[in-house]
Amino acid sequence: MKRLKVISVVGARPQFIKAAPVSRALREHHDELLVHSGQHYDRAMSDVFFEQLGIPRPDFNLAVGSGSHARQTGEMMTMLEELFCEQQPDVVLVYGDTNTTLAAALAAAKLGIPVAHVEAGLRSFNRSMPEEINRVVVDHVSDLLLCPTTGAVEHLRAEGITEGVELVGDVMLDAARYFGERVDVDRTLGELGLKAGEYFLATVHRAGTSDSRDQLRSVIYAFDRLERPVLWAVHPRTLKNLDEFGLREAVADSANIRVVPPLSYLETLALLRGALGLLTDSGGMQKEAYFFGIPCVTLRDETEWTETVELGWNVLTGTNQDRIVEAARGMRTPHEHPDVYGDGRAAEALVRALGRRYAI
Ligand code: UD1
Repeated sequence: MKRLKVISVVGARPQFIKAAPVSRALREHHDELLVHSGQHYDRAMSDVFFEQLGIPRPDFNLAVGSGSHARQTGEMMTMLEELFCEQQPDVVLVYGDTNTTLAAALAAAKLGIPVAHVEAGLRSFNRSMPEEINRVVVDHVSDLLLCPTTGAVEHLRAEGITEGVELVGDVMLDAARYFGERVDVDRTLGELGLKAGEYFLATVHRAGTSDSRDQLRSVIYAFDRLERPVLWAVHPRTLKNLDEFGLREAVADSANIRVVPPLSYLETLALLRGALGLLTDSGGMQKEAYFFGIPCVTLRDETEWTETVELGWNVLTGTNQDRIVEAARGMRTPHEHPDVYGDGRAAEALVRALGRRYAI
């Protein structure tokens, strides 16, 4: 089989996690160049993940930083176009639904370089989410669509995409299985003075939740009303907004809410495994909770990971204060826990799919 030259483009926290198992599997058979767009740049949002997950150092760092959507995406596209022209890869691999994903997919597709999309076919059917626009556009310019679930395959079919679609499973499960065994739950909980099964873990970072004062306030009041402590790992975007909206005091005054800086991947896995439940607007963490059998309350009106809701592990509350409190108080662990995200070997399946399509 021909050795492919693959350029993988990552840039935001969840992409580093997905790239870890994929890079490991990919480099056994092919040559990979890793590009970091620099969308996430803080040490806690980026470097820590590369170190903990053993991801190879990026070959290129575009250092794009923050900006409006168009500026951030446009700047990345300009730099990536040049890089792709110079490097002439056989395929460009993109992950998920961020502005980094969109920029890399558009730049490559317009140069006639095939785009392979990891986590293809997900839909929230909410076009006010920037991520939803990114997903739809990226899927429609991708040549190989690597789907995590049967639902994702169905979504693509409904949009007329049936060629180059492969069901490979979820690479986040690969990462959670591999690293989940290596974390020391007792030690992490001990360091934070937490007791297993007696606290909620919380994260909030979506534009829809954290860019609105009313919604953020409603979430804070809900956390405050819960009977168990809420450990809230605050994303830099949310921290900035808490200041801007004058909500820092409401958080500090709450006896119940405990704020910590963004967590590393291993800390997240440990704290998730020890939690009574997860309160989040993150996409990936809804699934991570499911992987470990931890119930979840999702602070959104819809989810891409509908299986978790259908199976009773996840409840959608939006940012309504009473609904959040009610759902958190009523958290339960259903009996059924099927392998809807594959068998934890999605990265290998993905590499085989790449080989079948391009290395012939
Ligand atoms: C992005 C993705 C989102 C993903 C999330 C994971 C898009 C449109 N959104 O959202 O899908 O779930 O990453 O975290 O791509 N900031 C820092 N330091 C950092 C990174 C961000 O201070 O290292 C601050 C900046 O002020 C920035 C803001 O956070 O303007 C938002 O960052 P950005 O990467 O644009 O979006 P996220 O909210 O992180």
